[in-house]
Amino acid sequence: MYPLTMVHLFWLALAAGFLSWVFFWLVVPALTGLPWVPSRLPRAQRALEMAALQPDELLADLGCGDGRVLLLAARVFAARGLGVEISPVLVWWTNWQARRRGLAGRVRARWGNFSRADLQGVDVVYFFATQKQMARLGPHLRAQLRPGARVVCVSAPMPGWKPQTADTRALIFVYEMPPTEGGLAAYLLEQAEKRPAAPPQCPVAPER
Ligand SMILES: C[S@@+](CC[C@H](N)C(=O)[O-])C[C@H]1O[C@@H](n2cnc3c(N)ncnc32)[C@H](O)[C@@H]1O
Repeated sequence: MYPLTMVHLFWLALAAGFLSWVFFWLVVPALTGLPWVPSRLPRAQRALEMAALQPDELLADLGCGDGRVLLLAARVFAARGLGVEISPVLVWWTNWQARRRGLAGRVRARWGNFSRADLQGVDVVYFFATQKQMARLGPHLRAQLRPGARVVCVSAPMPGWKPQTADTRALIFVYEMPPTEGGLAAYLLEQAEKRPAAPPQCPVAPER
């Protein structure tokens, strides 16, 4: 048996630190079924514009990742931001970035599970997730959010809720609380009915 020297202990501590960093950053979120995939900033900005985020409104990013959407909301929209994130490393990173940019008074991330998050006082919820996670979170949002609050879903629609507005190319769907029943199909049908009918096609070339 080799005796453990200070050098061995140093490398062991470094390896343990690295493994716990990877565990909390990647494995914990992946176990919940929603790994960390950051929003592209132009898409996030479009989503917040569609949700008509106003100065001083409180935006909650459920699963805030590295906090980029909250920082964008504070910088560009002068809004306040609350992140709920299951990975403690990402919570620490978000709060550190907010401090570094002088936005600590407006942006804060909390360690926790978004399906149990207290959303009192929240004006807009940003949720970038899969359809499965949307379906799981829907009842919690319905129970927690005040009438008039908006929910902006990125990448998948909320099953059963009719969006108030949607960008089906960018996959951004905005809902106002309490949500209208009907799902995306009802919204698309309504939009199709609103479009003016195409002029009848002329089967033969008109005579000159
Ligand atoms: C798709 S990423 C979105 C990150 C960020 N909202 C953005 O748009 O850049 C989903 C995030 O949710 C976090 N997450 C997954 N399950 C969670 C849960 N149950 N509660 C809180 N956060 C969760 C992950 O760690 C990850 O950072």
